[in-house]
Amino acid sequence: MKLPYIEPYKTKVVEPVNLSTPKERAAWIREAGYNLFNLRSDQVIIDLLTDSGTGAMSDTQWSEIMLGDESYAGASSYYKLKSAVTDITGFEFFLPVHQGRAAENVLFSLLVKEGDIVPGNSHFDTTKGHIEFRKALAIDCTIDEAGDTSANHPFKGNVDLRKLERVIDKNGTGKIPFILLTITNNTAGGQPVSMKNMRELKEMADSYGIPLVFDSARFAENAAFIKMREKGYENSSISEIVRETFSLADAMTMSSKKDAIVNMGGFIAMKSEELYNKASIFNIMFEGYITYGGMSGRDMNALAAGLYEGTEERYLISRLRQVEYLGSKLKEAGVTVQEPFGGHAIFIDATGFLREVPREQFPAQTLAIEAYTEGGVRGVEIGALLADRDPVTRKNRYPKLELLRLAIPRRVYSSSHMDYVAAVFANISERRDSIKKGFRIVKEAPIMRHFTVGLERV
Ligand code: F0G
Repeated sequence: MKLPYIEPYKTKVVEPVNLSTPKERAAWIREAGYNLFNLRSDQVIIDLLTDSGTGAMSDTQWSEIMLGDESYAGASSYYKLKSAVTDITGFEFFLPVHQGRAAENVLFSLLVKEGDIVPGNSHFDTTKGHIEFRKALAIDCTIDEAGDTSANHPFKGNVDLRKLERVIDKNGTGKIPFILLTITNNTAGGQPVSMKNMRELKEMADSYGIPLVFDSARFAENAAFIKMREKGYENSSISEIVRETFSLADAMTMSSKKDAIVNMGGFIAMKSEELYNKASIFNIMFEGYITYGGMSGRDMNALAAGLYEGTEERYLISRLRQVEYLGSKLKEAGVTVQEPFGGHAIFIDATGFLREVPREQFPAQTLAIEAYTEGGVRGVEIGALLADRDPVTRKNRYPKLELLRLAIPRRVYSSSHMDYVAAVFANISERRDSIKKGFRIVKEAPIMRHFTVGLERV
């Protein structure tokens, strides 16, 4: 008999999960203005809000915490992290920052100005926020297949090079400070980008003389997908694929809270010393001195270890398998999900699931509230609330897909937790046609509204 696959780690420390009743949860979510960000974590049973900063660190990482060097300048922790970054990514220059959006703030302060265009594949919300805040425009050039949950494409995160070319030709290279590639493509469903697509993108960027920046929060999961799905990479190691990936970028931003399995941290890395010198000034202004950025020494140590652990093949396979396990269970329960399954999350097609709820009443948020009330499962809306208003017309934007994301924290939940989540959706599925009304906005911020929005039942 073939032995079953197992996770390559076991539990040493546990954290209690607070159980609650549907009645309690109905009251809590009402008090929270129907915004799941407003819930207290002890009001949640299974927290799938995000895979960001929610992973479980290893005993090695916790040991590294004790070894942190908290010197203001030249700490050994800085050199440990620098060596890990260079070893894994190949980039020679790097700046530590406190998280991904801080990397965006530093780099975009240098590169993005009013009137600019930053094309890419479905920019993440903070990334788009940092572009739009500077009165520039983020243009999504993801392939059309990404917008069709049933389309079977192994690399739905890919850039449509013809769309990109049209954007460049229309606006001229002078307005485009860089092209931004997000690996994996979070917004499209944690979908990977193929090496072929990255190589062609690099060729096109070079032919126009436009730099290429990778938003690399989930670069290791992207590499694992390339190994599993792309011809010619079956026998490559993850580290070889990661090196090849970054050889195609001029710079990268990193939220280490994802694939590097730390609770806080990030960095920027680049090939050019000139870019590094210029970005250093913004790093010092916004984050901290160049040898710690926004991080303490102990956190840089844990990150250095996490970068190695997060790029281990056995771990990555178990990670992707857990996400796949939840996806298959949900499918069995009759839930339509983005397929093939993504790397860090399962994305439920809310318009397909709650067919009666009109788009203006936010079906994905409605489903998120149902899942919370039913079983204390907290997901996050990736639909019209998140898409926000058009910065020019101020009209609501309705993205092609109205999704509920169930993001799985790394090394945290077991298969029985996944079974529980699937059961919650199976129960909602049984009564889904009776859910006809959604929510309306009563309070919203001018930018990134989903974090603080207040809602009421229609
Ligand atoms: N880029 C991508 C692709 C991301 O997914 C995120 C964060 C960021 C940048 C920003 O990084 O949070 O460290 O400042 N994504 C989280 C999520 C929040 O839930 O998907 P950060």
